[in-house]
Amino acid sequence: MRNLEPASDVTIYELSSPLFTDYASKQRLIKLPKGTAMTAPDGKLPEFPEGTILAKTFYYDRPDAPQGKHIIETRLLIKDEGNWNAATYRWNELKQEAHLLKDGARVNASYRSSNGVEKTVGYLIPTEAECSSCHRTNSRIVPLGPELRNLNIGVSKRGRIVNQINYFIDIGILNPVDNQALGVLPNWADNRFTIDERARAYMHVNCSHCHNSGGWADDFTSLDLTYDTPFDETRIGSRKKRIAERIMLTGDGKMPRLGTTVLHTEGIQLIRDYIEGL
Ligand code: HEC
Ligand code: HEC
Repeated sequence: MRNLEPASDVTIYELSSPLFTDYASKQRLIKLPKGTAMTAPDGKLPEFPEGTILAKTFYYDRPDAPQGKHIIETRLLIKDEGNWNAATYRWNELKQEAHLLKDGARVNASYRSSNGVEKTVGYLIPTEAECSSCHRTNSRIVPLGPELRNLNIGVSKRGRIVNQINYFIDIGILNPVDNQALGVLPNWADNRFTIDERARAYMHVNCSHCHNSGGWADDFTSLDLTYDTPFDETRIGSRKKRIAERIMLTGDGKMPRLGTTVLHTEGIQLIRDYIEGL
């Protein structure tokens, strides 16, 4: 467990554009009950069978630690009787076991920035109530990352690069679907996409879970940051200044409202470039 090696019936998955969480690394896993598969009507969230488990473990690489990692928490979503249950487990000091944590916690951690400088962070494990602030559509808890278009990328499996959608179909966890027809959510860090595509993809993953119809922010503002909302309906145009201001804050009024304590320099630069070009 402490080497984060999943059991044989558990599949690691990767996202084209992931959520930023204070520069933590993440391992994402999916486990379906034996003999079941996901079905996909389009490039968005698939239908998950009863008993599906989605897990995400947050850690910082630490070459001096025994496993090379400072593992902090493992978050779970488990589908039971049609509803998703959310919980997080905090790893103990020896990184051998993790325990249910409902009230959140602050954990001191460190990471290396892109220019090699060691930085410290007071990483925040969310409370149980905070899970549903982000993971909700109206009053129901929903998964956010594994939209098929966000999974439609090349990944390394058994030593070669394969399309992740086709890999899921091959191992029987996804019912056959034409991966060419699903579209791809751009990788926000990939310069081969335009600034517009990258910024919209970044905001889709980092903002739209609150800023969409049925999300938390929907009660307060009509700003909709979902990738496929046509530009004129997003209200980005009339909120340019506010967006640019609020992504620079770390205290009151900060955006994203939850899930970060430090600024994401690279993401902020991208949004600012995008807004300047509008
Ligand atoms: C700041 C918003 C936010 C909070 C708070 C949050 N999540 Fe998430 N979570 C996300 C986003 C966005 C993704 C998908 C992107 C990714 O995996 O990088 C995600 C992914 C996950 C996944 C992988 C499956 C999926 O839905 O993509 C699990 C499991 C999960 N979260 C559980 C939890 C639990 C349990 C809590 C509370 C302890 C929690 N999350 C709190 C935003 C949040
Ligand atoms: C965890 C939920 C959550 C996330 C994630 C989030 N927001 Fe918000 N946002 C809110 C809420 C709630 C409000 C309304 C209350 C307020 O203004 O603080 C809001 C308000 C705003 C406003 C003011 C809107 C207006 O009409 O004046 C802007 C701009 C904004 N958010 C931008 C962003 C951006 C950009 C991101 C992603 C980088 C983001 N938000 C991520 C919850 C969130």
